[in-house]
Amino acid sequence: MKIVKAIFCCSIFLLQLQVPAFAQAQLQNYDGRYEQKIDSLLAMMTIEEKIGQLVLYTSDIDVTGPTIREGYKEDIKKGNVGAIFNAYGAAYTRMLQKIVMEETRMKIPLLFGYDVIHGHKTIFPIPLGESASWDLAAIEKGARIAAIEASAEGLHWTFAPMVDIARDPRWGRIAEGSGEDTYLTTKIAVARVKGFQGDNLGELNTILACAKHFAGYGAALAGRDYNTVDMSDRVLREVYLPPFKAAVDAGVATFMTSFNEVHGVPASGSQYLLTDILKEAWGFDGFIVTDYTSINEMVPHGVVADNREATALAMQAGVDMDMQGGVYQEYLPALLKSGAVAEQQINDAARRVLRMKYMLGLFDDPYRYSSESREKELVMHADHLAAARDVAKKSIVLLKNENNTLPLKKNIRKLAVIGPLADNQKEIIGSWSAAGDFKKAVTVLEGIKAAVSPATKITYAKGANINDNLTDQIAQAVKTAEQADAVILVLGEEALMSGEASSRSSIDLPGVQQQLAQAVHRTGKPVIVVLMNGRPLTINWLDKNAPAIVETWFLGTQTGHAIADVLFGDYNPSGKLPVTFPQSVGQIPLFYNNKNTGRPRSDQKYTSKYLDISNEPLYPFGFGLSYTTFNYGKVAVSKPSYTMSENIMLELNVTNTGKVAGEEVVQLYIQDLVGSVTRPVKELKGFQKIFLAPGETKKVSFSLSADDLAFYTRDMEFKAEPGFFKVFVGTNSRDVQEAGFELVK
Ligand code: GLC
Repeated sequence: MKIVKAIFCCSIFLLQLQVPAFAQAQLQNYDGRYEQKIDSLLAMMTIEEKIGQLVLYTSDIDVTGPTIREGYKEDIKKGNVGAIFNAYGAAYTRMLQKIVMEETRMKIPLLFGYDVIHGHKTIFPIPLGESASWDLAAIEKGARIAAIEASAEGLHWTFAPMVDIARDPRWGRIAEGSGEDTYLTTKIAVARVKGFQGDNLGELNTILACAKHFAGYGAALAGRDYNTVDMSDRVLREVYLPPFKAAVDAGVATFMTSFNEVHGVPASGSQYLLTDILKEAWGFDGFIVTDYTSINEMVPHGVVADNREATALAMQAGVDMDMQGGVYQEYLPALLKSGAVAEQQINDAARRVLRMKYMLGLFDDPYRYSSESREKELVMHADHLAAARDVAKKSIVLLKNENNTLPLKKNIRKLAVIGPLADNQKEIIGSWSAAGDFKKAVTVLEGIKAAVSPATKITYAKGANINDNLTDQIAQAVKTAEQADAVILVLGEEALMSGEASSRSSIDLPGVQQQLAQAVHRTGKPVIVVLMNGRPLTINWLDKNAPAIVETWFLGTQTGHAIADVLFGDYNPSGKLPVTFPQSVGQIPLFYNNKNTGRPRSDQKYTSKYLDISNEPLYPFGFGLSYTTFNYGKVAVSKPSYTMSENIMLELNVTNTGKVAGEEVVQLYIQDLVGSVTRPVKELKGFQKIFLAPGETKKVSFSLSADDLAFYTRDMEFKAEPGFFKVFVGTNSRDVQEAGFELVK
């Protein structure tokens, strides 16, 4: 009797385990309505067909990694492929889908994925640049438009948003994320997931998003891509994981593992990351895809002896889909036979993939996204170009503007436009511009010509190449400058000097561009520097000598118009740096939310500082000027102390004390003065982008809860601790008004 009972209870228990509990379903508005269909589909599939759903291969339209697989169409024909990436276009995706629908036994539609990172055909600013807008609505709209265009070209899935925190500008992929701050990155991650996925994945213009790279990828030692990552669990959980958790809570459909190790185990083999945290603690119901051949790369990582072991480790860890490695296809059948992997694990992985295909409506109509008519109607629509121009101008950060050099007058008599990026289309759409067509991008020179008066004489000289030591064009540039009333000098990096596998040991202006700037400066003409770069640069000489500097990142298809909008005052720049600009690469990692240490810097010898440079950045996190000025009133805290259950209410007046209207990003930081572990000197906990007419004052209010003050205590409990806090409200992380309060038990 006992045994029967035990078996009976046990089987009920197991049954319960098998039916995924959608009580905490994180997938937006998903009530489990496809689970029975998936059950019946799985029951009809062979093990090879189930494994086929866990296989992702690149097509040969675009290549984004070290290998491509010949004969992927044969694999599709055999039912060995669940998804294809780097394939887009209504006709091409339709052709590939037809192979599945007409030549495979189960006719399970393919998923088409692609790196739609900052726009599909209409290219938006690189993510780091767009993050400088601090405009969540504009950022969400950019992702929305990317999804509309991608889905019109047959795509179901983007490998975005990249939500890796990056504190080291030597790392090229800093360009792809939202910078150094957890709070800002978290807010932007949610905006991008919502933009890509909309409210209903069943709609034609929504696509699966993918939170990547899970996790800690931006902490690569020495900023060298793919290098070792080594951090405490507290730092992992407090700094790097929150944007991923926010993406899960926002209903993100997929995750991508990172190349790096976490706590000694490569992410693609980390049960701690993928199952304990992501699938179990966070309740993630979507599917996890690896990065490009990252299962295979666990062999050189040295945690497995061969690809067969790597396959077993990845499956045990919770990887659902193998990107380009070919190892799930090759080794899972044998691993299943040997008992190293259970069929239930394969079923669960296949279920997660099939669930997405149902949610996208692919079983109703596998060709629904491959539509030539929608392609023609929607791709690079005028509204999309207008939105790209809007967020691009909002992404521009005014770093310096001595004596109101800017804005320039549109009827300026003679204007010289100089520099290797002044009349350059190829670079200005930035890295990871995927299907973007740079030949459709508006250069700075074109944007300026379109903005000035007919009487204005525009001259142009390249002056230098971006990244070589040839100085033979400088003389001509000087001559051009001498004959003008002002100079716009467009300098920076090549698009692919940032992005993947593009770390730099120096973050100076490349090539001889600084020599060009010095030669043009010597003409005595007012020089406005326009920077285009995918990372912070050490532009100390420019900061000292150029009267005006605007940071424009890589602004995408509408670059020239957006820059002209700002340079001639049609738009008052409102961007704020999402990442610290160091004075020297020797200061890295340098970020605003650092710890105080036991010997904080002072003039005293024995304190934390350098002999040859201050600890200060060139430009601090959150920095950005305007053509107007803003005055911050005193921060009023509603009362001196709060219990854990009360909201801390703060408010202050912000006034536009200048002559032109403008937007200001009012930033709120806190400092927990005493904790059971050391705490950062500042942490961003809120921001509001407000518009003020000249002379206008607005009351800005913030509310903080104990959750906003929580951290991993000495016992690794996530909670707020009683004690005194400072609050800082200001125009950047340095120039702030201060107040304080006490949090009591
Ligand atoms: C690359 C990148 C990843 C991208 C993927 C597919 O290696 O690391 O961000 O989404 O491969 O192109």
